[in-house]
Amino acid sequence: MKVWETNPLREGMPDERTVKPTALVIFGASGDLTRRKLLPAIYNLALSRLLPGGFALVGVARRAKPDFAREMKDAVAKFSRRKPLDEATWGELEKGMAYVQGDFNDPATYSRLAGELGRLERDRGTTQNRVFYLAVAPTEVPSIVKGLCDAKIVLPPSTDADASYQRVVVEKPFGEDLASARALNRNLLAHLDERQIYRIDHYLGKETVQNLLVFRFGNTIFEPLWSRQHISHVQLTVAEDIGVEGRGKFYEQIGITRDIVQNHALQILTMMAMDPPASWDADAVRDEKVKVLRALRPIRGREVLERTVRAQYAAGTVRGDKVVGYRDEPDVDPHSKTETFVAMSLRLDNFRWGGVPFYLRSGKRLAKRSAEVALHFKPLPHRLFRDAPGGQDEPNVLVVRIQPDEGIALRFATKVPGGGMSMRNVAMDFRYGTTFGSSTPEAYERLILDAMRGDATLFTRADEVEAQWGFIDPILEGWREYDAPVASYEAGSWGPREADKLLAPGDTWRRP
Ligand code: BG6
Repeated sequence: MKVWETNPLREGMPDERTVKPTALVIFGASGDLTRRKLLPAIYNLALSRLLPGGFALVGVARRAKPDFAREMKDAVAKFSRRKPLDEATWGELEKGMAYVQGDFNDPATYSRLAGELGRLERDRGTTQNRVFYLAVAPTEVPSIVKGLCDAKIVLPPSTDADASYQRVVVEKPFGEDLASARALNRNLLAHLDERQIYRIDHYLGKETVQNLLVFRFGNTIFEPLWSRQHISHVQLTVAEDIGVEGRGKFYEQIGITRDIVQNHALQILTMMAMDPPASWDADAVRDEKVKVLRALRPIRGREVLERTVRAQYAAGTVRGDKVVGYRDEPDVDPHSKTETFVAMSLRLDNFRWGGVPFYLRSGKRLAKRSAEVALHFKPLPHRLFRDAPGGQDEPNVLVVRIQPDEGIALRFATKVPGGGMSMRNVAMDFRYGTTFGSSTPEAYERLILDAMRGDATLFTRADEVEAQWGFIDPILEGWREYDAPVASYEAGSWGPREADKLLAPGDTWRRP
């Protein structure tokens, strides 16, 4: 019996009995994502007794790693959300762990992998149930998928419910534009069935992003307010206080629009704006999300100059520390035009949201880390208390805080106690930490488990990812074609002043 079978502890995650014995194979196992996120997530699943009884883990990468298990143990001890490391749980995980060194283009790599899997499957009883996690650059995905299929490590999907399964999880970025994302989809679908493909966007694994749907569709009182009838505008913010963190070379090629807006921010937008699905089924949910992306009014050509602002951080102070500007970061061109901040004014052309501005912004080196969606309600039709001190100048605002300090707050006016008629805005605030305790599972825990269970609801479908690029591509082209200015903002501020011009008269950007 494995240690994780002996303790009934649960954390509100899906039931382990639905997870069949599985081998998880990570390509790109020598990378940062594996150390910082994937292994800590797997360990925490084990610690929460959520892994199946039979579980094996194989790392694959080019580099030699004679002590893979030791390195992973150190990484888990450092990056796990729960500390200190539980030796018994780790020991059990380590027994089913292996490492295969090899080039992703070399058929010999796949023969070695097949050998390791065969051995582990006998030892651990994982019966050819395999999840392949591709934590690699998008350009490497096709050769890996081909290698796996040619070596028959991935088998064609079967309609028999008892047959073994093989699934492929593809990390972001999924392509670098619409053409490459389409090519990647074509390539994947030439070898695999869509039901075997799990395109990851880790924001979908965040508790608060999922909670957007429970909040909206698990209650009766909010949904009737959730439309143009009551909302004047929506602000969506994904702000970070960190800079490019030594990833200057990567950032020069990608910029924040591709890195965060194309995926994470647009995914939050779909969850926030979608219509209720008919059921909690992967395709029913994703159908509704795709409709939101299709309703996004394109921003093309010269429109980029009116409806978007791109910018770069200059030197400044973040949380008391002096930091350099983007162009002075290592591996960054001193004349770079790569954006580290972007703001956009979006419209959804549909019945629910017609005419409601959606202001979206995302940036590195902003004043603080904060991801949130704020719904600003319409002003009062008649200000009964306009002469009262503090009288109702500000409309109601509902804020869904995705991170940190996860929660939901509703701002409304109230009477200040006393004889007169003074008013003040107050907030009704629900905090996850207070209600459920602070150690919420990491996004990767949920997503790895879902991939093993075969639940694709929180993964991006081919048409979804293409619709996201279809919206982003013309903006990037417009910037190039019209040589859109790259504004500057001080590190530690809330972005460039130029972003204010995107807002309708009277609206201001929130300070989360
Ligand atoms: C990644 C981006 O996808 O998401 C990073 O590549 C970014 O640039 C990160 O910092 C943010 O993730 P989180 O979960 O820390 O908000």
